[in-house]
Amino acid sequence: MMAGAAAAMSRRVATLLLSSRCRRPTNPISPLIPTVRAMNRRFLCSSSVSARTAEPTEAAAQLGDTVKEFRKRLRIEELKGGPDEGLSWVGKGLTVRGWVRTCRVQSSVTFIEVNDGSCLSNMQCVMTSDAEGYDQIESGAVTTGASVLIDGTVVPSQGAKQKIELKVTRLVVIGRSDPTSYPIQKKRVTREFLRSIAHLRPRTNTFSAVTRVRNALAYATHKFFQENGFVWVSSPIITASDCEGAGEQFCVTTLIQNDTENDNFTVSKIPVTKDGKIDWSQDFFGKPAFLTVSGQLNGETYACALSDIYTFGPTFRAENSNTSRHLAEFWMIEPELAFADLNDDMACATAYLQYVVKYVLENCKEDMEFFNTWIEKGIINRLNDVVEKSFVQLSYSEAIDLLIKSKKKFEFPVKWGLDLQSEHERYITEQAFGGSPVIIRDYPKEIKAFYMRQNDDAKTVAAMDLLVPRVGELIGGSQREERLDYLEARLEELNLNKETYWWYLDLRRFGSVPHAGFGLGFERLVQFSTGIDNIRDVIPFPRTPGSADF
Ligand code: 4AD
Ligand code: MG
Repeated sequence: MMAGAAAAMSRRVATLLLSSRCRRPTNPISPLIPTVRAMNRRFLCSSSVSARTAEPTEAAAQLGDTVKEFRKRLRIEELKGGPDEGLSWVGKGLTVRGWVRTCRVQSSVTFIEVNDGSCLSNMQCVMTSDAEGYDQIESGAVTTGASVLIDGTVVPSQGAKQKIELKVTRLVVIGRSDPTSYPIQKKRVTREFLRSIAHLRPRTNTFSAVTRVRNALAYATHKFFQENGFVWVSSPIITASDCEGAGEQFCVTTLIQNDTENDNFTVSKIPVTKDGKIDWSQDFFGKPAFLTVSGQLNGETYACALSDIYTFGPTFRAENSNTSRHLAEFWMIEPELAFADLNDDMACATAYLQYVVKYVLENCKEDMEFFNTWIEKGIINRLNDVVEKSFVQLSYSEAIDLLIKSKKKFEFPVKWGLDLQSEHERYITEQAFGGSPVIIRDYPKEIKAFYMRQNDDAKTVAAMDLLVPRVGELIGGSQREERLDYLEARLEELNLNKETYWWYLDLRRFGSVPHAGFGLGFERLVQFSTGIDNIRDVIPFPRTPGSADF
């Protein structure tokens, strides 16, 4: 579990102190003249003060009321997550807001298990018939899935499962939940079924734990890059260039009129040129535009000015891959390092991965224990190894030799030049290297994107893929071709239009520097860190071929 109860207490105290300082003291002589103390407040609570650039007029000042102070709410995790599992809260009054997991009515006492999403643990609320709102129990309104507000006093628990419980003084049912139709009951259901109720699945243990770990990984990602001097850059979602050159982009157009209600998508309304082609000049952007497959090219422009940057945003691929590792919409983290080569890139990828995994092991203990018990036995040890052991790197040619020597029958026969498939990647990490991450570098140029730097052998490029057990490719990166003549020649070889890359080529014309970067599929990182085997279960609302519900 996260921070200790003592830390939680001190955070709370800090919040209270801050909010009391933010309260606007008025000058008793004239409410319009700011006091000296009010000026000092700028340093303590700048956001609430700086918004008021001018004092209101007297007439306006008599109208309305101040906005209520924001106060961080105390959640179950903060109560039960500390080393004493909440005992320091005994005797204190508390309000719990959440959703009922179970309600057991016994002759003299009722047990209501409430979960507020902050952790796996529920708050056991113990209610007797003298408490306010007991009629709600009698009327059967406190059912699984109902939302409730419960006031009470923290007391030591009689049960063995928890150290504390809440003795209820008042119960309010906020939103009822029909027990006959609420789809999430105590019995276990399949993940396939839960995908069909993606709007309710975050109320299950598995999905709430995945969501918290996903959140921790995102936080740790920003923390790692910020601590290492990288600047976060927002790369565009709509783009006219295809970074990976694989033609797997979704088109963004207004040429097809959005009239779904009348089912009025007539092809005849799409403007065409004299020679029968789509007339893109009439489209919103005046040319074909797409959802981005990667923010890299834009990221490079900022790296070639700010030195080290990273992007973290959604990317889209219209690849018809119905696998447990592919999504049509996924999030990617793409750092780009200036004055850097492939070795710097691999070092960054390794340090990043070890950092975020360590962060999750240290800060999501309860959730990780849950995954260790229910999802992938031994995941905690596996991740500890990732943090502690150094990663292996080998060249593509060495990897091909290794696969040939394995004498294993692969569906895709192995020979130099082959684009490694998931079966090969998994053999390498899971069997050849016993479950540790492996980096493969220097791939044949034919199977990699145009922007990768050509090696001296003229056959391979300075590319690297980081492979991990179960997931396969987690990271794909490279040193970029910083030499203008090489890059232009490569674009020509691949029949790519040099004109559309004019701005990208400019980076090589003006102050070009060796630079390198990588892309990490965020959902694959969540899979790797939780043991969840299907990528559709680590993103709230998965988009895959034939499925864009919710
Ligand atoms: O290897 P990829 O295609 O590399 C790039 O896009 C580079 N432009 C990155 C860079 O150098 N800045 O994709 C990077 C990663 C993959 O290793 C994989 O983890 C993930 O993105 N990925 C996907 N994740 C989920 N669903 C898909 N369809 C994915 N395609 C790639
Ligand atoms: Mg790749």
